[in-house]
Order: sequence, then structure tokens, then C-alpha cells
Amino acid sequence: MTLDEIKKLLSEMSLEEKAEQLVQLHGGFFGDVGMITGPAAEFKMDADQPYRTGSVLGEHGARHLIDLQNRMMAKQPHKIPAIFMADVIHGYKTAFPVPIAIGSGFDPDLAEEIASAAAEEASAAGVHATFSPMVDLVKDSRWGRCMESTGEDPYLNSLMARAMVKGFQGDDVSAKGKVAACVKHFAAYGAPVAGRDYNVTEICEHTLFDEYLKPYRAAVEAGVKLVMTAFNTIDRKPCSTNKRLLRDVLRKDMGFEGVVISDYNAIGETVIQGSSEDRRDAAKKSLEAGCDIDMMSDCYLSSAADLVKSGELSEDILDEAVLRVLILKNELGLFENPYKDASEDAERKIIFSEKFRELSRRAASETAVLLKNDGVLPLSKNGRTAVVGSLADDRLIVGSWAIFADESKTVTLSEALKEICPETKFELFCRNELTDTELSEIANCSAVVLAIGENQIPTGESMSVADISIAQKHKDLFEKVISANGNTVTVVFGGRPLAMPLIAEKSPAILEAWLPGTLGCLGIADILFGNVNPSGRLSMSIPYCSGQLPISYSQFMTGRPKPDTDKFIRYVSNYMDVPNKPLYSFGCGLSYTKAEYSGVTLSSSVLTPGSKIKAEVTVTNTGSMAMKEAVQLYIRDVKGSVVRPLRELKGLKKVLLAPGESKRVEFEINEDMLKFYDADMNYV
Ligand code: BGC
Repeated sequence: MTLDEIKKLLSEMSLEEKAEQLVQLHGGFFGDVGMITGPAAEFKMDADQPYRTGSVLGEHGARHLIDLQNRMMAKQPHKIPAIFMADVIHGYKTAFPVPIAIGSGFDPDLAEEIASAAAEEASAAGVHATFSPMVDLVKDSRWGRCMESTGEDPYLNSLMARAMVKGFQGDDVSAKGKVAACVKHFAAYGAPVAGRDYNVTEICEHTLFDEYLKPYRAAVEAGVKLVMTAFNTIDRKPCSTNKRLLRDVLRKDMGFEGVVISDYNAIGETVIQGSSEDRRDAAKKSLEAGCDIDMMSDCYLSSAADLVKSGELSEDILDEAVLRVLILKNELGLFENPYKDASEDAERKIIFSEKFRELSRRAASETAVLLKNDGVLPLSKNGRTAVVGSLADDRLIVGSWAIFADESKTVTLSEALKEICPETKFELFCRNELTDTELSEIANCSAVVLAIGENQIPTGESMSVADISIAQKHKDLFEKVISANGNTVTVVFGGRPLAMPLIAEKSPAILEAWLPGTLGCLGIADILFGNVNPSGRLSMSIPYCSGQLPISYSQFMTGRPKPDTDKFIRYVSNYMDVPNKPLYSFGCGLSYTKAEYSGVTLSSSVLTPGSKIKAEVTVTNTGSMAMKEAVQLYIRDVKGSVVRPLRELKGLKKVLLAPGESKRVEFEINEDMLKFYDADMNYV
């Protein structure tokens, strides 16, 4: 359709029909079981009204969505197709590692490949848009949703945001295998006070603009089609009704022209939060703020048309929102083909196809982070290896936002180890309680793989904790196993950085496996046995304890900085009981070979406006195994009109190095990279 045709269509729609285009309900409203991702709800509606809404949440499956589209279009006065949107966050049926792991790949190409694979599977199943990427910066692992973010750093998250938008949408979102992406949760949802989900956010303007907003901006620059508002407040105003945030920052400053969708009942919840009088007021405020689609509340459904009739809301505002939704439908090609790529035949061919199974395995091997290795790893293939811990036999390690994943297809760690290393004799003790006899058997093995941490249940939405320590039962298990056999490799599963100082001290090797996806354990096993040289780097720092939170590598200079010592010093900024730094910092991670850095040069020591500086370094693989090295460029602005971070990531290149190979790695430093918000909030 041309824009004129879309505008003509809009001009023919009634106010009620317009309001319905702005409503999104889940499948439960269509007599389907539906994938419910938030609180249950019942709204006053006539039986046909759900079918007249503009988009549907969480439904999937080609046959089902072709039927549902037919049923919906039949009831639409203008036969407008619906958009089917769903949370395809780290894979559709084939699950890839969770986003915190994807971030740890330090490799935007891999992130793009994963998003593209997820899009291909989901679009075959009739999905048109995904609620991903989530790029909320997060520095607090009490918040269960850190699993769903690519981490703590604005630059890394921006790279990931761009890559994932490109992977989902390609150059043309109507093309086969592509879906519209939705960046979320705008804004600063990753910084709820005290790490408690849905809580308010207290954030200063500089932190908001210099750090938290950057990844959303990157997604907008990459052409993301949708933006989702966050549940939290910014400056005490809920994001969905926050005019300054949505109109001034997102639309004017960032130049976003696509669709803004609220989070699940976020508009309705502004009434509970007490910043809207009632649902009518909430509808008025969020439409005026520029929130186009009301997901899972009946505010727009019950009030939008009436607000225009009573003169309380300008029809132009309603029209503007509807026009954006219709334009998105047109960009997806739905007016020409309302089913887009939905095809049962394609589902059979694409879902779980060999290339995605291979990617699921490879992605895990490139995103797991080797935190410590005193030489135990890689394991000898000819040994007798004990596999300990219930997580080694747990299928719920794909990650909590792969809601459509088929967990019966998960390969567990113990299965993966046996599959990739038939020559090893494995003794399985996949439980957390061990008898003395079992401990003696473990003592007689050549090595132990101990799986601890968390499966996918305790992370994700609403799963906040006050204490991020590894569970006591796992600490106890670790102590017993390490006393029985010093050759213990600790594999830590989970969606959040878990505090583990004891394990860091006593385990000779630690691999952070995250939640690796359907076939991810094969990739983890590949690392353990040296088929793959690990190359992941932490996307989020691992603290010593909850009391250090929020924490990030990027700290600020205080007036009383701590000198370089481990001792506590009175009247300087430090803790009496733990260091200031995290246990393992953002960006760290080992390989089986060592990369040596030498010959750092700058083409100039002065950057004049408009010019560029070339920064170069030689990186050499000193080992006998090929390696991938994530070369990272950090800068520090020593003097500013405001206090500046001690270190900021500004460049990243993941390079492949053959054994003994050296490469000269180049970065460009330009004016843009050094810009920040000055004392008067000018971007200079
Ligand atoms: C989550 C969103 C998600 C939405 C739809 C909400 O509860 O916060 O991230 O996209 O549900 O499932």
C-alpha cells in the first residue's frame, strides 16, 4: 500500500475501530490456551471485540495463526490484518544461550546470527514481531531479568542492540524469514531500586543519558520497528505516560518513527501506582505521551474513542498512533499477505534444522566464560571423570525466555559429555547429596565436573532475590567434592552472576556456562574437553557478595580513592569486609592459550575537532591452539566538567589467531566516541 492509501483507510475508520487497532490481547481472549506472560485479566468486551483488535500477544504455530488471522480479518470492518507478536528472545523452538551469555560472546556477528536464526524459525511459525532485543543496562544481579540483558556496558549493549535488530529484521522486514524487532524496556528498566523487579528507578540525568539510553538509541539508529515502554518510573513518572521520555527523548531526540507499545498492563498499572486517576486518565496520558499500543489492559479499549468524542483527547493524537500501527503492518507486507511466512511445511523444514542445532552448540561454546584455570582444563579424554550435581542432569537449563522451546529436546551436561567423548569413562553422580562411598569413588576419578548454580526457574521476570550467593546446598556439595578430589572443574549454570568467593578461591577451574540453550551443553562439553578454545568474556561483573550491588567495572573517581592495596583504609572509599572491585570483572575471561599484547601506538596524542586517532596494538597467540581474542579498547577522560568514569569500553574486535600468529589490531578514536553530557546537559 502507498502512504496515501493507508491514510485513506485511516480516514474511513470509526473511532472505535481506531481504538481497537491500538489494543493487544493474549491468546486467552480468542478461546485459545495462549501463552500468558503476565497477570491474568478479564475485560468487559463483546464476544467479537478481541477479533477486532490490532495485534495479538504470544500466539504461535503456522496452522493456528493462519486460522486466527482468518477469524480476525473476517470480523474486522476493514479487513485489516493483525500483527502476531511474541517473546522470541533467545530462540523460538531451538533455544540459544540467554542474552547475558550472548553479550558474553563479545561478538556482534554471533548475536546477529542468533537473532536471524530465531527470526527464521519464528516467522515460519507465523510470528511477525518479536519483543527483543532487551538492552536494559544492568549492574545488579538481584534483578532476575539480568538474564535477558546483554549486560552492564553501554557500548557492548549498543553493539548487541544493532546486531540483533539487524538479525531479526534484515534490510527489509517484509522479506522471508524476518520479523520486526522491539527494543525494550524504555527506559532504564534494568535499574530498579534494590534490584526488585517493577520497582521505581532512581537515576540521575547523566547516568540516564550517558549510559542507560545509549543502547536504545543504537537500536533506533539500526531501524528497530518497535519500542516497548518499561514498567518503572523515570523521575517518578511511569514510562508509559512519560511524555518527556517518549515524545522529547525517543521521538524528537532519537528520531524514532515506529510504534511504541506498552509493556504488559503497564498503562493500567499507572492507576495502581497512583499517578493516573483511573483507566480513562491512564489512556489519555499515555496516548498524549505517544504510547501507541496498549498491551494487555483495557484502558484504550474502554476509553480512547470516548475521550475523543468528549473532546478530552485530540483525534489527531489517536490518528497518529493508528497510522503508525498501519504503517508497520504495511512494512511487514501484511496487507498483501496477512500470513507472511506462516507455513507448516516451512516449520517442518526450518525448526530444529541442522544449521540451527549446530548454531545452538557453537553459540554456547563461544559465550561460556572460563573464569579460572589452574591447568585442570582441558580434561584428558582418556581419563575417568566423575560428573556431579543435579544440574548435570537437568533439562531446564535452556533459559527462561525461550518460552516456546521444547525442553524435551535439551541435551543435558552429562549426555553431552558422553556424546562428545566416548573414550572417557564417566561416573555419574547427578545429585546434590552424596554418600561417603560415592565420595570415595569420586576421589578415585582422574577429574570431576561439578555442575552447580541455578537452572532456568529462579531467573527471569519477577525473580528477584536479596542474596545472590550460590545456594548453600551447592556450597556444601562443592566443599565435599573438592576435599575428595582436587581436580574439580566447577561449571556454573545460571542466568545471573552469582556470588561465589569460596569457589573462586578453592576450585582449580571455573567455567561460567550461563543457561546455554537446547544443545548448549554440547558446546560446554566441547570447551571442557578442549575441542573449542574458550573465548567468552563477562558481559556483567560477578560480585563478591550482594552488598557490593549495584556494581560495574565502570566506576567513578571519588574524592577519596582507595590506593592500590588490599587493606582497609579509614577515611577512603572502601569496604571493611570486601574489596571495591568485583570478584570477576566485566570483560574478563580466559582461553587455553595466552594472547600477548605489545606495541601499543597512537597515531597522535591530540584529537582536534573532526580528526581521528588510530590506536593500534599487536596481539599474538603464544599457544599451540587457535584462539579467538576479544580485543577491547577502553578510554578515560581525566578531566571533565562533571566526574567521568574511570574506564569506558569504546572499541571491540574479536580476532581469530592461529597458533603463534600475530595480528595488528586497529581502532579509530573519533570525536563522537569521546562525547558526553556536560555539566549543563549539552552533548559535547
Ligand atoms: C515483559 C515483557 C514481555 C511482555 C510480553 C512482560 O511482562 O516485561 O518483556 O515482552 O510481558 O510477554
